[in-house]
Amino acid sequence: MSERLLVKVGGSVLTEKGRKGTADTGAIGMIARDIAACQDIPLCLVHGAGSFGHPEAHQYGLAHGADRTNRQGIAMTHMSVARLNQMMVEALRHAGADAIGIHPLAGAFARAGRLISLETRPLQHLMDMGIIPVLHGDVVMDEVQGACIVSGDQIIRYLGEHLPFTRIGLATDVPGVLSKDGCVIAEISGERGDDVATGGSRHTDVTGGMKGKLRELSELSSHGIASEVFHVSRLPDFLQGRPHGGTTILCGREHG
Ligand code: IPE
Repeated sequence: MSERLLVKVGGSVLTEKGRKGTADTGAIGMIARDIAACQDIPLCLVHGAGSFGHPEAHQYGLAHGADRTNRQGIAMTHMSVARLNQMMVEALRHAGADAIGIHPLAGAFARAGRLISLETRPLQHLMDMGIIPVLHGDVVMDEVQGACIVSGDQIIRYLGEHLPFTRIGLATDVPGVLSKDGCVIAEISGERGDDVATGGSRHTDVTGGMKGKLRELSELSSHGIASEVFHVSRLPDFLQGRPHGGTTILCGREHG
């Protein structure tokens, strides 16, 4: 199968996380240029929220769901992450890549905080046409709790299970999954996670930081799908299939 990549860029990489609604335009531009330089490879991009979306989700208590009393948080949170999405898409287009924003709220659905459906056919067709679909962590309607926050990592897990990607990579603000003594763990089998420092990322948030990431990647692993976590500065290496000094979450079936 020829290459088809699924890439997530963490919100802490794209934004100044301590300053509400503040993008790191330098980082966004750099990532856009890295991706645009590999336009011949079909790619789907998912990004996190960082200082967009998280503050609103927290303010309106969306982690516990939504009803009529806090429903305003749904639009406030969505509009915030949609702004960041627009910036990412514009940066990609400016760098010469054909990219389009796709908002999970519009078509995804969750059950008790877990993403259970998302239409993948348009994404497949966009990639076939050489267009990069750009999705993001979002607020999603939920059949049990009204609404919930679905992280970019959950979206990666869902897309990884439902579309045939050759490689899945997560660009973060740390060089990989770190052990408790601060070293990058080169390989993790899906089930093993005891000696992992789950607070490894600079920031943790409503969707669980490195712990939440590993939960989704372990699930992918148990479905026979490997993934890689690396520092965002090594994104060009990942895109080109070179060593990136990060962590590979091995495909569970090879080791089970
Ligand atoms: C959160 O997405 C989406 C919200 C609406 C809050 P993520 O959980 O993927 O964001 P980061 O990467 O941790 O910032």
